[in-house]
Amino acid sequence: MSESYYPVTFSPIIVGAMRLGKWGAQMTTDELEVFVKGCIELGVTTFDHADIYGDYTTEADFGKVLAKNPEWRSQMQIITKCGICHVCENRPEYSVKAYDSSPEHIEASVNNSLEALSTKYIDCLLIHRPDMLMDPQGVEKIVQQLLEEGKIRSFGVSNFSSKQFKHLHDNVPLHTNQIEASLLQLDAFSNGTLEQLMDYHLRPMAWSPLGGGSVFSEEVDAKTQRIKNTATPLLEKYNCSMDQLLLAWLLRHPSQIIPVLGTTKLERVASAVQALDIEISRNDWYALYQASTGTTIA
Ligand SMILES: NC(=O)c1ccc[n+]([C@@H]2O[C@H](COP(=O)([O-])OP(=O)(O)OC[C@H]3O[C@@H](n4cnc5c(N)ncnc54)[C@H](OP(=O)(O)O)[C@@H]3O)[C@@H](O)[C@H]2O)c1
Repeated sequence: MSESYYPVTFSPIIVGAMRLGKWGAQMTTDELEVFVKGCIELGVTTFDHADIYGDYTTEADFGKVLAKNPEWRSQMQIITKCGICHVCENRPEYSVKAYDSSPEHIEASVNNSLEALSTKYIDCLLIHRPDMLMDPQGVEKIVQQLLEEGKIRSFGVSNFSSKQFKHLHDNVPLHTNQIEASLLQLDAFSNGTLEQLMDYHLRPMAWSPLGGGSVFSEEVDAKTQRIKNTATPLLEKYNCSMDQLLLAWLLRHPSQIIPVLGTTKLERVASAVQALDIEISRNDWYALYQASTGTTIA
């Protein structure tokens, strides 16, 4: 695989910050410090944020940990996202949920994120969702400026269709497309998203790689039950846990997907790292795929 335009690389497993703060575990600074340190020790050095997580509070939770441990900054990569105007009490100026990829919004959001995260640079800035009113040339201009200022080191998108990706990539080089992909969400495996990233020699990032944890619930829908029924005998075959099997299934794809974990438990991050060593067979990959779709392939 040749190099991307941007010389920024990520750990093979990324930890997402969405559930660490107000929207989930509500970790204290001390708890978050232990978690971040543990991730780094496991080699999981890339952290995925968004301005909106925790109603615009989780970046600052993380920033407190970094302010206490500034030497960790050079050992990690920080991804953050912008472009969703999320209505909440921390943004009284928003009255309607909207997407905004205007240069003014991107610049203001990056400046906020830098301050909240207690960092001088963001390793990868992503546009969180495709903005139907996006002006690609406006995005190109502000991204160039932020790169030149050293505020961001690479730029990409999230949740873009392959057409939307090409449209923007023709104007400004993109580093990745962070998309929902898992055994519970198969769209990217057939809609051209993964093939496009392979064509551009870029690695996809998969959010909700465990389907947001739904597979671990007591009560599951018919699709999830089929996946569990097919997966259960494979756990013994591969000597692994359910989360490891679901991750190994994603990792088996040739596009070199990087899973973005949502766990708030260090032992589950460790378990995910072990999934990097599991190579599931082609037959088992297709058996799980068909368990998810509920149909036999043609
Ligand atoms: N770009 C986007 O639009 C977008 C959208 C959504 C999310 N994201 C990113 O993707 C990250 C991951 O998303 P996600 O949280 O939905 O991912 P996920 O990894 O599919 O789901 C995480 C959930 O599964 C639970 N879980 C994991 N392993 C488990 C196990 N063995 N047993 C029981 N429960 C288990 C976790 O609980 P525990 O904490 O108890 O382990 C957590 O509640 C987010 O943090 C965020 O950074 C991006």
